Amino acid sequence: MDDLRDKYLGAIASAADEAGLEEVRLAALGKKGEIALRMRELGTMPPEQRMAVAPALNGLRDEVASAIAARKAALQDAALDERLRAEWLDVTLPARPRRAGTIHPISQVTEEVTQIFAALGYAVAEGPQVEDDWHNFDALNIAPEHPARQEHDTFYMARAEGDNRPPHVLRTHTSPVQIRAMQAQGAPIRVIAPGRVFRADYDQTHSPMFHQVEGLAIDRDITMANLKWTLEEFIKAFFEVDRVDLRFRASHFPFTEPSAEVDVRCSWQNGTLKLGEGDSWLEILGSGMVHPKVLQAGGIDPTEWQGFAFGMGIDRIAMLKYGIPDLRAFFESDLRWLRHYGFGALDVPTLAGGL
Ligand code: DAH
Repeated sequence: MDDLRDKYLGAIASAADEAGLEEVRLAALGKKGEIALRMRELGTMPPEQRMAVAPALNGLRDEVASAIAARKAALQDAALDERLRAEWLDVTLPARPRRAGTIHPISQVTEEVTQIFAALGYAVAEGPQVEDDWHNFDALNIAPEHPARQEHDTFYMARAEGDNRPPHVLRTHTSPVQIRAMQAQGAPIRVIAPGRVFRADYDQTHSPMFHQVEGLAIDRDITMANLKWTLEEFIKAFFEVDRVDLRFRASHFPFTEPSAEVDVRCSWQNGTLKLGEGDSWLEILGSGMVHPKVLQAGGIDPTEWQGFAFGMGIDRIAMLKYGIPDLRAFFESDLRWLRHYGFGALDVPTLAGGL
């Protein structure tokens, strides 16, 4: 009996896998197994001998059966551990760049502009893209017969029949957000308003939908000098250059007086643009001192407050900074273009970390 126990407990302990263990089980307890045969022999024994042998044999059978069950559980645990080790997946591995989406240059540049002006104390303001004609034109001192209304190639919304109110428009610039910001928060004020604008125009440098960012600073004693400094700081930070040369060229906008268009000194070498040097000038934005009538329309008293405003094309400065030749490609959703010009999701622009 002891020999049998040693033999099978040893075989069970050294079974390397479940198949090996099953062989041991069949050899011991299977129909023709050694222990099973012994139990069958019990029937042929004289009663006294049977009484002596049977309990020990039953005990041995139970002991071997439970040793097999325990070994089986241990082998299954080990198999599971092994499988978990083999199928281990490192979820901290970075995504494969080829499969990652990219941040559109317009989104990236909008974020860059926002970062720079945030550091100068500007909040971001928003307004509706479907704008009423008062905010888009009248409040900005653009009277109904003013030629600027034609120049803007405005998209008008359809009106219900019999509705004689002025139609809504797709805003033609971000300037109406100036009015909304003044109405909402009064003076003093420092906001930028990036967003979509719409004009019926389409060629290599015009798209019916494009992006502008408006700037507005109102306080008691703001002057053109503050405008000039602010724009210089912005251009230097945005194009990551140490110095810029700006040219303020007298211009006219109905909503500013005086008005200036701003050009930046640049050179073109083999088709690449360099800012801050050279003999060329590149127009990049419109600006001026906010017209008293515009302050009034925004509910701000022009005898107490004054300020500057500017508006520039986000798409245009994105093209300049990143050397993108055709505006229309921005909006064609061509995957190759997006992979080439797009930014990684983790390339978040910050002044400290770089734009
Ligand atoms: N709204 C003008 C445009 O779309 C741009 C502009 C010019 C905005 C001068 C301003 C400004 O705030 O002062 O062409």
